[in-house]
Amino acid sequence: MSMSTSGKRIYLDHAATTPCLPEVADAMRPYLTDIFGNPSSPHSFGQEAKRALDAARDTVSDQIGADASEIYFTSGGTEADNLALIGVTSALSGKGNHIVTSAIEHHAVLETCEYLHTRGVETTIVPVDEHGLVDPEDVRKAITDRTVLVSVMHANNEIGTIEPLAEISKITREKGVAFHTDAVQTVGAIPVNVDDLGVDLLTLTAHKFYGPKGTGALYVRRGTRISRIIHGGAQERERRPGTENVAGIVGLAKALEISQEGIEERARHISELRDYLIRGLVSRVEDMRLNGHPTKRLPNNVNVAVQYIEGESMLLSLDMMGIAASSGSACTSGALEPSHVLRAIGLPFEIAHGSLRLTLGRSTTKEDLDYVIETLPPIIARLRSMSPLIR
Ligand SMILES: Cc1ncc(COP(=O)(O)O)c(C=O)c1O
Repeated sequence: MSMSTSGKRIYLDHAATTPCLPEVADAMRPYLTDIFGNPSSPHSFGQEAKRALDAARDTVSDQIGADASEIYFTSGGTEADNLALIGVTSALSGKGNHIVTSAIEHHAVLETCEYLHTRGVETTIVPVDEHGLVDPEDVRKAITDRTVLVSVMHANNEIGTIEPLAEISKITREKGVAFHTDAVQTVGAIPVNVDDLGVDLLTLTAHKFYGPKGTGALYVRRGTRISRIIHGGAQERERRPGTENVAGIVGLAKALEISQEGIEERARHISELRDYLIRGLVSRVEDMRLNGHPTKRLPNNVNVAVQYIEGESMLLSLDMMGIAASSGSACTSGALEPSHVLRAIGLPFEIAHGSLRLTLGRSTTKEDLDYVIETLPPIIARLRSMSPLIR
């Protein structure tokens, strides 16, 4: 990111990633240098590392209400999603070949469904309403006697909508179908408990809750059938071969532990800041609306559609003013395409194009938001004055 003329740098892209907390980096450091053994080695060096791994597994399972034997460490959210979808469908290929998922899942889920299609697994994609909510009854209707897995994310990474997982899990239980959720955006942000949600598999990744990048986990409820998707040694009870990323896993556990301290109070505080930002922007800019659900949303997520301009140009102008945000478009084969999420909530192409996501974090202050509220409206006015979409 470029430095603004005022020297300010305000990071409002915490849904993309978060910095590692100093305490997390401190907890990891010994495992990069002194305690370097391979956890599979029977000698004392290896066993020291193995103890750290076991302790991390205990910590992670405690924080989400699981048992240590139900946690499989992975290289992050993408791999955990792949393991859930490919692993369950291949273990249950004798039973069925059908997945039910939602239209607003992360690419780690949707692209995996595309891949599975080439392996003979069909997917039914249930729609969402204008706020991004899945209707559990749509999930019920989509389940057939060939369905082996339902995958619905806990909260959407773009628009922040929190899905009714507990209601969906009543249906999956009734139907005897495994239920996976991608909880990458909720773990560490709001309380997450696998039994309260009723899920059988859950994806999490450390870099979204102030831990290191490249480390995640898949929770798999005992009794859920799942095959390995990569092949090699016997690590992670043979479900995820490869020498464990000990330092990363220690960091993940530490970050998760820290994230749970005062989580409800922090979520309340951040959602107050979120609402302050939403009010500040919507009251100052005409033809701006909030994307996502007004209340069932992540505490830190602001996503607004700004008519008549492009999100990308807002991003660049904000970056020049020291504000890091994200837009609702992605570059697909050289062209800017509005995201599948904004299209799924029914935004017309041109409005989806003008969407901007600002995601708050632990370090965000009211002063930061005042700066955004002061800086963004003139940027929008200037871009609109040049826009061919407005007279
Ligand atoms: C909802 C969701 N799922 C999965 C991922 C992928 O996680 P990772 O970057 O750890 O592979 C992300 C990260 O952007 C995400 O937001």
